[in-house]
Amino acid sequence: MSGHGTPIPMTSRKSGPLSGTASVPGDKSISHRALIFGAMAVGETKIAGLLEGQDVLDTAKAMAALGAEVVDHGAGNWSVHGVGVGGFCEPDNVIDCGNSGTGVRLIMGCVATSPFAVTFTGDASLNKRPMGRVTDPLALFGTKSVGRSGGRLPLTLVGTGDATPVEYTTPVPSAQVKSAVLLAGLNAPGKTVVIEKEATRDHTERMLRGFGAEVVTEVVPEGHKITLTGRPELKPQVVAVPRDPSSAAFPVCAALIVEGSDILVPGVSQNTTRNGLYTTLVEMGADITFENPRTEGGEPVADLRVKYSKLKGIEVPPARAASMIDEYPILSVVASFAEGTTVMKGVKELRVKESDRIDAMARGLEQCGVEIEEDQDTLIVRGCGPSGVKGGATCATFIDHRIAMSFLVMGMAAQNPVSVDDGSPIATSFPVFERLMADLGAHVERTNG
Ligand code: S3P
Repeated sequence: MSGHGTPIPMTSRKSGPLSGTASVPGDKSISHRALIFGAMAVGETKIAGLLEGQDVLDTAKAMAALGAEVVDHGAGNWSVHGVGVGGFCEPDNVIDCGNSGTGVRLIMGCVATSPFAVTFTGDASLNKRPMGRVTDPLALFGTKSVGRSGGRLPLTLVGTGDATPVEYTTPVPSAQVKSAVLLAGLNAPGKTVVIEKEATRDHTERMLRGFGAEVVTEVVPEGHKITLTGRPELKPQVVAVPRDPSSAAFPVCAALIVEGSDILVPGVSQNTTRNGLYTTLVEMGADITFENPRTEGGEPVADLRVKYSKLKGIEVPPARAASMIDEYPILSVVASFAEGTTVMKGVKELRVKESDRIDAMARGLEQCGVEIEEDQDTLIVRGCGPSGVKGGATCATFIDHRIAMSFLVMGMAAQNPVSVDDGSPIATSFPVFERLMADLGAHVERTNG
């Protein structure tokens, strides 16, 4: 099991108006996929704007261990010389995906239909997360797996060299599960079908089409049906990774709650499978304008001008959950500064993320003086109004980058500073968070030097 390094306690305090431009790093989901699809293409894929967070670096290492040539050219420019679908070789060692659920689940998919065994592990957070949701559908291809109890990591997959294509309805709304099945289907003959009741992020489908695979998405009575034709020859691409809307959420939400703020966040994805937070914020009364809409790296994007806003609590429709699943922690912070109650239902998937995010947010919010209610599938936040959040607590982050960043944003507008016990996981997805927020005028620092 990999460690996750020495804890980095951090503190944020009430900040002056935030101003300037927040250029957030590349999209984490797309960065993983660019490396993986590049490794499965024949020839050299060039990637610009790759997120150089630890999660993605771990996936880069894994692709190299499977036989691809992965080169870092500096400043976010990478190349991957791929081995083609079915061309991976048995790795010499265990694949360590660190903190990354996306990394491990997608890589399991892409080795499931290769005729060798791969052992996967991760850090203390990843090794608690459920993997049966991926190994169950992979078993339908003929892939065997042996893991710890509950199907957890460390886990060994024994891939099949004689895969049969599958038709699978995902029991949970998960782009990782959908993607694992499609990746396994790449090296199976015939058509692999995934049906999902609720649409989840569609980067795998979009990018696979871009790499030359035949992927058809249809709306059917059960939801969305995605059909992949197996054994394509993937063609190398030039991939420009767009900025990450999930990282953009932190400066956007900070500007909404820090009095007097006015910032620009360029190139934020408007992909409807990712932009639920922004729809929700506008419903809460956020002053956000979507300027200069265009396409970047195959994704619809816009520049967001965000101004401090008086917000009201709302009920977030459960049907929106998949399109903002990573944004509920920061939404619950924003909701604390709203007038009235924000009800988030249909969010039980939050319990199996890098931490149990409902529990982590509920505990920290309560410590900061915010009233909450929770059940297995719900988080309710009673807003304290724009200047009513007390803060003054040290919140536990449970090796979860989004919990750490959410509480640090809270401290920027609370009456008293807010600390987190460990900000080190922020490096998994947003390594420049501290500097970027400080450049906007936020007071955020490492507590011990
Ligand atoms: C991701 C899918 C989501 C999300 C994660 C990234 C992806 O997970 O939470 O951060 O890139 O496919 P689930 O598929 O488990 O919902």
